Amino acid sequence: PSRRRLVVANWKMNMNLASTRKFVKDLVVTKEQCTVVICPPYPLIYPLNELVNENKSSITIGAQNLHRQDKGAFTGEVSADLLKELDCEFAIIGHSEVRASGETDEVINQKVKKALATGIDPIICVGETMEQREQAQTNEVVTGQLLQALTDVSDLSRVVLAYEPIWAIGTGLSATPDQAQEVHQQIRATLLKTFGQVAEQIPILYGGSVNQDNAASLAEMGEIDGALVGGASLDGTGFSTIVHAF
Ligand code: G3H
Repeated sequence: PSRRRLVVANWKMNMNLASTRKFVKDLVVTKEQCTVVICPPYPLIYPLNELVNENKSSITIGAQNLHRQDKGAFTGEVSADLLKELDCEFAIIGHSEVRASGETDEVINQKVKKALATGIDPIICVGETMEQREQAQTNEVVTGQLLQALTDVSDLSRVVLAYEPIWAIGTGLSATPDQAQEVHQQIRATLLKTFGQVAEQIPILYGGSVNQDNAASLAEMGEIDGALVGGASLDGTGFSTIVHAF
């Protein structure tokens, strides 16, 4: 199937103006079939966009989150409209680090709809804890998160999913290619059963300790359509290697 392939950098609460400049200089992206998305902290979105334009870089910009409401008295939050105005084409939604602070599946579903309505493609994160995996609940947990996030979503062709086992995030303990492939296959089967053929178009990224050394073996798997990279996305040269693996 001709699904789009994406490698997404989630800078989380890292980087500054100087390191962003260096990153754009160091990143070498030549492979055109893979979309490279950088999700910086909010204040770096505008300068990153300027750098991308100056350097004629093929980087696409994304946000790490957005708010479910249009605007209003929501201190510290950022609207989808403003992100769109600043050229964000993607937004990460439902990251486990945001879920951990109390974000519910219902709120995630509202954010997904807000993103799509604003012209932003949502990158929806799902994943189980180690405890859930050990109790053989992975499929149930991931399927539940997925179906709730996609409730009443009309434009599935613009949705991107990211499978991020929580035990693999920032731990150096990546899922093996086989472990990731197995969950991605289950996700694909659920999507096909629930939504029909359009499910074939939805890319499923893997996230959790992806680095320069394991990217190629993950990229070989037929159901892994890209990566969502945290720690290893902060250095332009290293991140280039990951991009080229996909
Ligand atoms: O969004 C990215 C993931 O949380 C993975 O982070 O690559 O540092 O494990 P990590």
